[in-house]
Amino acid sequence: MIDIHTHILPAIDDGSKNTETSVRMMEMMIEQKVDLIAATPHYYCLDATPREHREIAEAARDRFLEAWKEVHPENAELPELRIGAEIYLANSLDSVADPGCLKISGTDLMLFEMPFSGYHEWIPRLAYLVAGKAGGRPVFAHIDRYLDLYGRKVTDALEALPGVAFQFNSDSFENRGALKYMYSLIKRGYPVFWASDCHGAHHRSPDLGTSLPDLRKKIEKKFSPSVYAAVEERQYRLMGK
Ligand SMILES: [Fe+2]
Repeated sequence: MIDIHTHILPAIDDGSKNTETSVRMMEMMIEQKVDLIAATPHYYCLDATPREHREIAEAARDRFLEAWKEVHPENAELPELRIGAEIYLANSLDSVADPGCLKISGTDLMLFEMPFSGYHEWIPRLAYLVAGKAGGRPVFAHIDRYLDLYGRKVTDALEALPGVAFQFNSDSFENRGALKYMYSLIKRGYPVFWASDCHGAHHRSPDLGTSLPDLRKKIEKKFSPSVYAAVEERQYRLMGK
């Protein structure tokens, strides 16, 4: 099980506050049988360069790994932890150098977060430009949150981007509108990812492993077990597995 969108790294964004929280979050993910995790701290282009973001994230990962070893000296086995970013689509993003540093490591995936303040036609164009500059593939984070907000006009524009993929948050797996859109993407052959977008160990905690089995049943019933398996297999392939 892949959790492609998490804020598990300690003390670098509004996610995990410290290494203790990160360790607890990781314990929960292991209990839930997540075996591949992308740490995707928020990236705002006015705060840091992509390279600085990568260095900050790697340093936070190293602090986490140290803390993990202290708490679990007997068991250093961890799910694979990749570093990436949740890249906020702000209109100055196209001027950053080295946007490739924002890809999820070992992949060409770039997780983009659209603004909630209003849709603009430059948003898909910007994602296209930045992903193109980085040789990356755009993945739109928690697309479920924008469906009511922006509607079909936006999803049509995003769907037209080459290589585009869509990510749904686990708290949308019961939402009829989100499911309808997810099914339509699957039917039309778009890559779909699932994620917890976890921010802590208590509030917005890792829950993909507890939510996904029900979604799996729904997809298997709507389509077939082989369709579910194909969606999941494609996720691993896109993660370079
Ligand atoms: Fe997030």
